[in-house]
Amino acid sequence: MRDDVIESLATEQRVELARVWQNRAGLELQVGIGFAAIAGGLVETGVLQPVIEIVTAAVRDEVRHAEISASLAARYRKGEMKWPAPVKTLIPAFAPATGAFRTTLHVVAMCCINETLACAVLEACVARAKSPLVRAGQQSILSDEIDHARAGWAHLASPFVSADDKRALGPWLRRLLAGKLDALLDEAAPLPGEAFPDHGMLSRDAFTTVIHAALDDVVFPGFDRAGIDTSDARAWANEK
Ligand SMILES: [Fe+2]
Ligand SMILES: [Fe+2]
Repeated sequence: MRDDVIESLATEQRVELARVWQNRAGLELQVGIGFAAIAGGLVETGVLQPVIEIVTAAVRDEVRHAEISASLAARYRKGEMKWPAPVKTLIPAFAPATGAFRTTLHVVAMCCINETLACAVLEACVARAKSPLVRAGQQSILSDEIDHARAGWAHLASPFVSADDKRALGPWLRRLLAGKLDALLDEAAPLPGEAFPDHGMLSRDAFTTVIHAALDDVVFPGFDRAGIDTSDARAWANEK
C-alpha cells in the first residue's frame, strides 16, 4: 500500500517514528504474556466461558499487535521487519493479595483499566492519523482492545467475583491506576513522536485529556455499575 504521509517524511523523522513503533512491538508482547498469566489464574479460580475465550485469544492478539507494530517500524525505517528483542515480562505481585482476589486485581488492571484506556487512546490516535497504513494498523489493534476491555467488565459482573472481593477492590483502585498512570500524567516531557499527529501520535497534553475523559466517562462508571466504590479512585484522578 502506498503511503504518501510516511513517504513525505525526512529520514531522521522516519527513524524517530520507527523507534516508537519498534518499542511498541515489544510492549505488545509484554501485554500478551500478561494475558497468559491471567488465563492461568482465571482457570484456577473460575471464569465464564466467553471471558476465558477472549483472554486466551488475547495472548495471540497481542502477538499480532507486535507484528503490526514491527511492520510499521520497518516501513518507517525502509528496511526488513525486525522481531522485538527479548523483553522482561513483569507480572505484578499485588502483595498482600492472594488467590482469586489477586487474579481479580490482574483482570481489573489489565482489562478494565489498561485495555479500556487503550481503546480511548487509540480512538484519539486514529481520529488524528492521516497515514493510511498507521490508521489501518491502529484500527485493527483497536478492534481487539475493545474485546480485551469487555472481558474484564464481564468478569467483574460474573459470579466469580464475590461481594467481599468487590468491597475490597475499592481501596485498591488508586494503587492500580497510579501504577499505570502516575509516570505518564506527572511528567511534562514530550511523548515520543508527539510532533506527528498525522502519524497517529498523541501529545502529552492530548493524552492527559483523553485519559481523564475515559476515566470519567467509561472506567469509573464501569466500576460504579459493578458495585465497586470509586470515591478514592476519583479523588486520585482529581489530584492529577
Ligand atoms: Fe495490544
Ligand atoms: Fe489488548
